[in-house]
Amino acid sequence: MESKDLRESFIRFFEERGHVRQPSSPLVSDDPTVLLTTAGMQQFIPYFTGDRDAPHKRYTSAQKCFRTVDVEEVGDTSHLTFFEMLGNFSIGDYFKAEAIKWAWEYLTNVLKLPADKLWVTYFEGEPKRGVDPDKEAHDLWKSIGLPADHIRGFGSDTNFWGPPGESGPCGPSSEIHIDLGVERSSKPHDHECGPNCDCGRFLELWNLVFMQYFCAEDGSLSALPSKNIDTGAGFERLLMVVQGKNTIFETDLFVPIIKKVEQLSNKEYKENEKSFRIIADHVRGAVFLIADGVRPGKSGREYILRRVIRRAVNYEHQLGIRTHRLEDLAEVVVNLYESAYPELRSQLGLIKDVLIDEEQRFRKTIERGLKHFENISAGGDVISGADIFYIYETFGFPIELSREIAREKGTTIDERGLEQALKEHQELSRVGAMEKFKRKGGGQGDEVKKAHTATHLLHQALRDVLGGHVTQAGSRLFDDELSFDFTHPTKMTDEQKQKVEEIVNQKIKLDLPMLTEIVTPDEAKAKGAIGLFEKKYGDRVQICSVMEGDQAYSREFCGGPHVHNTAEIQQFKIIKEKSSSAGIRRIKAVVGRKAAQ
Ligand code: ALA
Repeated sequence: MESKDLRESFIRFFEERGHVRQPSSPLVSDDPTVLLTTAGMQQFIPYFTGDRDAPHKRYTSAQKCFRTVDVEEVGDTSHLTFFEMLGNFSIGDYFKAEAIKWAWEYLTNVLKLPADKLWVTYFEGEPKRGVDPDKEAHDLWKSIGLPADHIRGFGSDTNFWGPPGESGPCGPSSEIHIDLGVERSSKPHDHECGPNCDCGRFLELWNLVFMQYFCAEDGSLSALPSKNIDTGAGFERLLMVVQGKNTIFETDLFVPIIKKVEQLSNKEYKENEKSFRIIADHVRGAVFLIADGVRPGKSGREYILRRVIRRAVNYEHQLGIRTHRLEDLAEVVVNLYESAYPELRSQLGLIKDVLIDEEQRFRKTIERGLKHFENISAGGDVISGADIFYIYETFGFPIELSREIAREKGTTIDERGLEQALKEHQELSRVGAMEKFKRKGGGQGDEVKKAHTATHLLHQALRDVLGGHVTQAGSRLFDDELSFDFTHPTKMTDEQKQKVEEIVNQKIKLDLPMLTEIVTPDEAKAKGAIGLFEKKYGDRVQICSVMEGDQAYSREFCGGPHVHNTAEIQQFKIIKEKSSSAGIRRIKAVVGRKAAQ
């Protein structure tokens, strides 16, 4: 079955069961709480919440989605940034019994997947939030005939879905996973394994969400006006299984892109799987983002686009491609998708122009960096981590590229020194004033720490006053001054500014302690951490929380440095609030003695 037939077969199956075919919404949505569309349900949110009357009760769609959380995973066998999600939706109509029955019927009767290889999960409850174990879902699967050990209960990490933004519809979920065989496991074959094990043996195919709650920003749940269904099946994953391939990159949605990269680079996919996969994923993502109106830039979704383009160029370079080529790959992507997304063809010229422009710019960066690389590597067999960091920081020269060239030249990079330099930078990245900090030593550094912690308080206070759509779009510190860019559509009123200032000063007066923890990304998410995490410690991330009793007033992904207690900030004062770019506002503020003046 080819990709276009699979997409059509899914939609048809649900059309035959009374669902209305709904076109994909754009990747850039009207919803201010998310940067990009990440799930099929997003366009139906107003129906789930009852804010708008739904013209129909049943919908089905193939939705374009883009998820940045998985960008580091891309390159393995199944993760993507851009993907399509197949879904069926019920607005206060059918509920668990039909959703489960139809999903099973589609997979086993239509696609003829082996029933004995399918496992399912259900929500095992969360008393704290007042949600009972989903015995109903468990029993429904049992009545379908699944053996008891193929029905597994899990907590909210995996089996309570949503909302995609800070607040919105959510509910317990039940997922269908496929057992790809023990030979796919990266762990010893006798390890404890099942759905949600990350060894590679099990692959999640479909998520059925029983959308019955509204989740507020503080995590509390209330009942939605109706009980709804939201499901999402990973199109590329389903295709991989249906086509009997080991990875999504061997399906007909990717082979032409991979072939083109082989042709452009004169290298073989088999020898360079990771680079090929990253290029293929990123160029698809870039094509769809550009077609939906995004342009490369410095923050928000524009930065996401820039990042995927530059990463793709980086890997092209590593494969020996020395001139702009992404536009040729874009053409292949458009050929692959134009039947499902006809708007791509008419945009191809524009897509190519944007790609060529960004690729050329970045290639200049690479050239400049290469010259400096020659200088720093001239000295001997080992290149210092500080030097590698320097060309990364100063010229944006990618670290992977440094590693690659070092390997070619037979020189070694002092990885430990590099790690140290990166860590120091991470601690100060938000500061953007590393040089100053180093030159001026501890005394002035304390001012930076005050401004840094105040930035976290400001971020949360803005969300309190303006709403959960406020997200950081940039942040700089200069000793006791800070500048904070955030997403918000309109100018702030004087009243709002005053309120934000009051909240921050109140938190300063309360002398709240700052808590730093290193946790897994899942734990961080569960704890409600906000902000961007670009760098990780292995599979751990650092979060910084301003604690109010045992509750966090502010919790962010962050590398420090901070004050220990908020009273050290002394005082906070907003100097200016102005527009930074479309949809982004900028606040300039001061802390410490300067704020008291
Ligand atoms: N909204 C659900 C998901 O994205 C189906 O997994």
